[in-house]
Amino acid sequence: MADNIKVTIDNITIDVAPGTTILEAARQIGGEVAPPTMCYYSKLKGSGGKCRTCLVEVSKGSEKDPRPMPKLVASCRTGVMDGMEVKSMTSDKVIDARKGVTEFLLLNHPLDCPVCDQAGECHLQDLSYENGSADTRFEFERRTFEPEDIGPNIQLHMNRCIMCFRCVFTADQLTNTREHGILDRGDHARISTCISKALDNEFIGNVIDVCPVGALTDKTFRFKNRVWFTKPVDAHRDCPTCSGKARLWMRGEEVFRVTARKDEWGEVEEWICNTCRFETKDAKDWVVEGPTKVNRHSVISQGHYAGKVGTAKQPVLIDKVIGKQPKLTFDIHSESEVNKPNIHLSQIEGPAHSDDFNTPG
Ligand code: SF4
Ligand code: FES
Repeated sequence: MADNIKVTIDNITIDVAPGTTILEAARQIGGEVAPPTMCYYSKLKGSGGKCRTCLVEVSKGSEKDPRPMPKLVASCRTGVMDGMEVKSMTSDKVIDARKGVTEFLLLNHPLDCPVCDQAGECHLQDLSYENGSADTRFEFERRTFEPEDIGPNIQLHMNRCIMCFRCVFTADQLTNTREHGILDRGDHARISTCISKALDNEFIGNVIDVCPVGALTDKTFRFKNRVWFTKPVDAHRDCPTCSGKARLWMRGEEVFRVTARKDEWGEVEEWICNTCRFETKDAKDWVVEGPTKVNRHSVISQGHYAGKVGTAKQPVLIDKVIGKQPKLTFDIHSESEVNKPNIHLSQIEGPAHSDDFNTPG
């Protein structure tokens, strides 16, 4: 086996196997260093290279050829070289490019989050919170499509689609019969089935989980509840078709929705079948393992059990990333006598207690 190679991303150096992409290397570091992705999906062959959200700056090509790369590159499609140095969140050019890509992705997006079932767990919503602007410069009418029925369980809302191709790869690689694909070109390109066929393969429900936006949603859950009001638990059942390991979204004793379990990058851990997803909604059918730890930093992580949000194999310390200690906006001790002079709240273990503060005398 070839020796590992060294790559430095945002001032953190790691060893990775040859052939690793910059994105996968950044994910090994974890946290905010990993660029956002809207089309890449590690479980789907051929995915990536469509959306440009994962752009990074290569400031040193390799040990042998240290010249920087002339343009920002898509990290999901660019392999690392030995000695390569990459800037992701530390590059102003990258931050600027992400803003531009976010603006492009939102050009035709209906921004109907208040009525969209994906709200709260939408990757485009998260991306625009982090990189979007409060206003739009787009003055034209947004592109719209006629509603289309693609079957009893899956709702297609084409106006929300960002053309990431993930659902097409999922159907191609998971099911024996792919009934849908991308029709037409350019601005007219759309997800559709040929002559309104229904998507009814036993694993086709997984297209709902891979869709980063609300273009493909679960008809059996539609408009029934907001995801942040439901409580996710990990559960399993004896299923003859899939692993039976799923996530139940419950309110009280009622199972509102069943999805696959997802990892910290929002990617499905194990594909589940349609019977588990759409037809097994009685809590008695499942063995509940315990509350889900939400690892992904997003709206849905609020108010739920937090997992390892912001970290992967090793904790990412902001001073390591930016190469110096973060600057405090002001020193609380010079502004107020509320804290005891020898207590620095950022350095104590766990939450502050009354002992840490001066008692009013
Ligand atoms: S429907 Fe969803 S998964 Fe399919 S291409 Fe559009 S955004 Fe991607
Ligand atoms: S995630 Fe790399 S181009 Fe879309």
